[in-house]
Amino acid sequence: MSRILIFDSGLGGLTVFEPVAALRPDAELIYVADDAYFPYGALGEGALVARVVALMGELIARFRPQLVVVACNTASTLVLAPLREAFETPFVGTVPAIKPAALASRSKMISVLATPGTVARDYTRALIHEFAADCEVTLVGAPRLASLAEAALRGEPVADADIAREIAPAFVERAGRGTDHIVLACTHFPLLRARLAALAPWAVEWVDPAPAIARRVDALLGPATGEAASRPPLAIFTSGAPVSPALRKALLERGLSVSS
Ligand code: DGL
Repeated sequence: MSRILIFDSGLGGLTVFEPVAALRPDAELIYVADDAYFPYGALGEGALVARVVALMGELIARFRPQLVVVACNTASTLVLAPLREAFETPFVGTVPAIKPAALASRSKMISVLATPGTVARDYTRALIHEFAADCEVTLVGAPRLASLAEAALRGEPVADADIAREIAPAFVERAGRGTDHIVLACTHFPLLRARLAALAPWAVEWVDPAPAIARRVDALLGPATGEAASRPPLAIFTSGAPVSPALRKALLERGLSVSS
């Protein structure tokens, strides 16, 4: 039986949890939201590395997972290397899907919609340099979009105008060409996918790497046992704050129960 830990600052990692759970019903899944430190996008780099390495040490000692998925671009683009140095457990990261977007783009105008932390990373710039040299790439650090996605999943009202304001800079038009692919480089954003599509000034492809991450996890785990996991997926919130009924429902819909 494999045990997989899926980790994010909040609820965004659920968009990675879902395809992993669908591919590997035989694995025991533990979802950890570090909501005590949400949003990671607002943390300085030193503080973020220290927090994630320390928390991961506790989680690995407690759960002894075979594999950890860092379902957060803001953390992965900074902390994957220190995590791999500190622990023997394999880590699968989530980093901006710039390569597939650049390959698929016809207008050669793509945008990377992420947290302010992710757009500032050397890692993100290196991906653009390596894989999107033939594209005009617009980096958009959306300051509030992850929090809006959290609020929506928690059942709180989120205005269309607030979402539209966050995504507007990702739509660029020049000399008869326009952005045709937008990389969802924060795992929270696919939670709002239908609303992003509805509020877009024109139709684009939204590039979400979650299915590819799930396939990578599946390959690393090896053949499935064919049996269901002995324990249902569990969600853990580091803040210990009460979970609202709307959030509990959203988690249950994804097969997760909350650890009390
Ligand atoms: N879900 C995280 C990501 O993929 C970011 C949210 C946050 O700022 O904590 O980048």
